[in-house]
Amino acid sequence: MSGLSEMDPERPHQARVYDYLLGGACNFEPDRIFAEKFLAAMPHVGIAARLNRHFLQRAVRYCLDQGIHQFLDLGSGIPTVGNVHETAPGAHVVYVDKDPIAVACGDVELRDVPTAETVHADLCDPDAVLGSAAVRNLIDFTKPVAVLMVAVLHYIPDPHPAITRYVAEMAPGSFLVLSHGTGDGNPDNGEDVVRLHEGAGVLPSPRTHAEVTALCADLHLVPPGVVWTPLWRPDSAPITNPTDAMSYAAVARRA
Ligand SMILES: C[S@@+](CC[C@H](N)C(=O)[O-])C[C@H]1O[C@@H](n2cnc3c(N)ncnc32)[C@H](O)[C@@H]1O
Repeated sequence: MSGLSEMDPERPHQARVYDYLLGGACNFEPDRIFAEKFLAAMPHVGIAARLNRHFLQRAVRYCLDQGIHQFLDLGSGIPTVGNVHETAPGAHVVYVDKDPIAVACGDVELRDVPTAETVHADLCDPDAVLGSAAVRNLIDFTKPVAVLMVAVLHYIPDPHPAITRYVAEMAPGSFLVLSHGTGDGNPDNGEDVVRLHEGAGVLPSPRTHAEVTALCADLHLVPPGVVWTPLWRPDSAPITNPTDAMSYAAVARRA
């Protein structure tokens, strides 16, 4: 599954599997079968998906508090609860995804939202993303922006070149927001999960704490740094063991 995928309801796709895990209805039978196998291998994956969404919303609110009013959400997924334009009403938001169904659902969701648009693109093609009409219309890179890469980088074998390119575009005071799958908390199940994904034609790249930290090189990590998603500036007591989140979270600022 590299490059831009065509709509193929016969094969599971990350966007629709994630939608199923979150209780959404925008998924097909192969997505549901894959998600159930994933849940059998890692029963916490549904909770992990919800914890990830909660982190995304807290991070967007944090960026708003820092005066950010424009968001580039890369690998934005199928619209679900707590989308960026809902958490940050009135902000300029561009959603980018390589899954055509996620983009089509986004277009419907954004019909009456003049400050938000979608782009169908691979985030690893920054020229396509940054040169898109939506980004040129809505995002002013001479001003601080939040670039979100939430629960997407573990699908990319080497995300460093793309991150470097987006960071180079960001004005001082901008933020990079990311969450990233890891096997650190569940070393026994890691290989099962990788095998399951490979069977569906996806090559996941879970990364260690050190590897996720390295993705934020050249930026200043906002405290508490790289932590399990429910531990990033929580607004309530954790409801589960933090490692059940299966993901690290980080927000980093460009000086
Ligand atoms: C697990 S979902 C995360 C959705 C959302 N960011 C969130 O955290 O709730 C991952 C999304 O990334 C998208 N994706 C994966 N690789 C991508 C790429 N190279 N470029 C753009 N989107 C990508 C998938 O299509 C999917 O919608």
